[in-house]
Amino acid sequence: MLSIIVAKAKNNIIGKDNQLIWHIPEDLKRFKNLTSGHTIIMGRKTFESLVRVLPNRHHIILCNDAEMNINDENVEVLEDISMLDQYINDSQEHFVIGGATMYRLLMPYCNKMYITEINQDFEGDVSFPTINPDEWEIIETEKGLKDEKNPYDYTFVTYIRKNSQN
Ligand SMILES: NC(=O)c1ccc[n+]([C@@H]2O[C@H](COP(=O)([O-])OP(=O)(O)OC[C@H]3O[C@@H](n4cnc5c(N)ncnc54)[C@H](OP(=O)(O)O)[C@@H]3O)[C@@H](O)[C@H]2O)c1
Repeated sequence: MLSIIVAKAKNNIIGKDNQLIWHIPEDLKRFKNLTSGHTIIMGRKTFESLVRVLPNRHHIILCNDAEMNINDENVEVLEDISMLDQYINDSQEHFVIGGATMYRLLMPYCNKMYITEINQDFEGDVSFPTINPDEWEIIETEKGLKDEKNPYDYTFVTYIRKNSQN
């Protein structure tokens, strides 16, 4: 099964100039806890925005360039989303980690979403798609308050697809 993980602003912005806009250590900790040991699926631009290959995770990068090759045993490049069928149909959880293009493309195949909602609007150039309340229901929320390390209030919100078995 596929799950989305994302941090989004109140106005749905998720990035600017191919970077994240905020630094929220508590959110990064949650990302690491949830995704470690799993497959993470991302677009080529998000891969390029990472500082390095993330440890203890199998990376799948979607890219239209058949020549793209990353020399790392934990990185696999795929050219076609139909090659994700095995991950969609698998009982194990695999994570779609962005960016905006991947969220739009793969949201219809996801059954769960781990969303960090930052309680503030931001300016940016990429956004998360609108969540249709007819398709998704919230199963868990956990509030986080800003402190000396985390500069914004945020809420961890977990959604599941309505009528999903997962
Ligand atoms: N806030 C968050 O949680 C979060 C998480 C992740 C990313 N982001 C932000 O999102 C932004 C990047 O998002 P983005 O939408 O610009 O880029 P992206 O989704 O990361 O990557 C887009 C690229 O994926 C490849 N691609 C797209 N559709 C494809 C298909 N059907 N088949 C094969 N390859 C395909 C293409 O690569 P080629 O051009 O090489 O063909 C395309 O340029 C950055 O600002 C990043 O910081 C935010």
